Amino acid sequence: MKNLILQLRSLSAGVVMFIFVISIVALGAMSWTEVKADITVTPHNLSSAGAGQTAEICVFCHTPHGGDTSASVPLWNKTLALPTAYQTYDSLGTSSNDGDIAPVGSVSIACLSCHDGTQAIDSLINEPGSGFDSAGFVADPGAMTGDPVLGQDLRDDHPIGVQYAGGGISEGGTVGTSQGTKVDVDFIDPVVADVNGTTIWWVNTTGGTAGREKEDMQLYTRNDGPSGLVEPFVECASCHDPHSEVNDTFLRVSNDSSEVCLSCHIK
Ligand code: HEC
Ligand code: HEC
Ligand code: HEC
Ligand code: HEC
Repeated sequence: MKNLILQLRSLSAGVVMFIFVISIVALGAMSWTEVKADITVTPHNLSSAGAGQTAEICVFCHTPHGGDTSASVPLWNKTLALPTAYQTYDSLGTSSNDGDIAPVGSVSIACLSCHDGTQAIDSLINEPGSGFDSAGFVADPGAMTGDPVLGQDLRDDHPIGVQYAGGGISEGGTVGTSQGTKVDVDFIDPVVADVNGTTIWWVNTTGGTAGREKEDMQLYTRNDGPSGLVEPFVECASCHDPHSEVNDTFLRVSNDSSEVCLSCHIK
């Protein structure tokens, strides 16, 4: 009997130990994801760019008041270039491109306010703290250089400001039927929802039913597109989440086995 109790004790100690180890492993995995999902540890934490930089992070992109409203980007703290400054993919004239391309006047222009390499990274509309001026930035990072610069000639980049699936999808209905027919059938059907009276679309990458998640390919609604209708477009942030680098280069999903590409294209 005593033996049995001892055996049971060591067995339960073993179980406890096992659960303990599993929880440590799980905790480790969780905090790893959490840490990488946090903008502070990505190259978009520009506050660590140099000694004397402001400790704020969001300020390099967003301002609570007085942002640039010339395009539909959230509270944008940098002056945006004119859409006509950019050369777009459609001017290549590939005969296989079905989607019409709108001027670069949507949310992508926000990324380009740093990634076209034309203005200093710390050139902001509202600098942190009232009366703070650019002299407050001790280390002047200047404009971006090197690989992350796309320039203003976007003909050699994946199309942006482009209608999803060649167009044909509009606020009017649901994919395939009431939402119109995709002009290019080689695309995954987008998911549609109404948020406070605005129609939004995304491409589900998680298979989940939780609504739009940040791992899904976001499609951006434009009503100044070629058709004049409210419809979904592909922009920089369709593929990249500027706030999280769980995957390399801020990608919404890992690009192993070209998963990013196959999230939208049926190939
Ligand atoms: C390097 C630039 C950059 C930085 C830094 C940045 N953002 Fe953004 N943010 C963007 C861009 C571009 C968009 C629009 C694209 C999109 O839909 O994610 C955006 C969208 C948003 C949105 C609306 C869409 C959403 O994801 O909910 C919120 C809210 C937001 N940012 C909050 C923040 C906060 C808070 C911080 C600081 C902790 C921050 N951002 C830092 C670039 C940035
Ligand atoms: C305020 C300026 C700013 C804005 C706006 C901005 N970025 Fe960046 N981004 C940077 C800087 C600085 C780096 C790091 C450059 C370097 O490593 O030389 C960077 C790096 C990147 C990288 C490479 C990351 C890596 O790990 O190699 C990607 C991808 C990227 N940005 C995408 C975007 C996208 C997409 C948007 C819009 C949704 C955006 N950025 C908006 C400043 C910006
Ligand atoms: C259709 C998806 C898609 C769109 C749209 C897109 N990107 Fe990317 N981008 C990628 C992928 C995938 C990579 C990673 C490529 C690799 O690892 O070779 C990447 C890489 C990058 C890099 C890192 C390049 C480097 O050499 O360091 C930057 C910066 C970047 N993208 C910025 C942008 C900006 C700015 C836009 C909008 C003008 C944009 N991207 C639009 C998919 C996209
Ligand atoms: C968010 C959805 C989405 C993702 C992700 C995406 N694409 Fe696209 N892609 C499009 C749309 C929309 C077009 C516009 C062309 C059309 O309608 O035929 C396009 C166009 C293209 C074209 C040009 C077609 C032409 O005929 O000129 C190529 C090539 C391409 N994508 C390759 C890729 C690759 C490679 C990846 C992964 C790195 C990728 N795409 C990721 C939506 C996407």
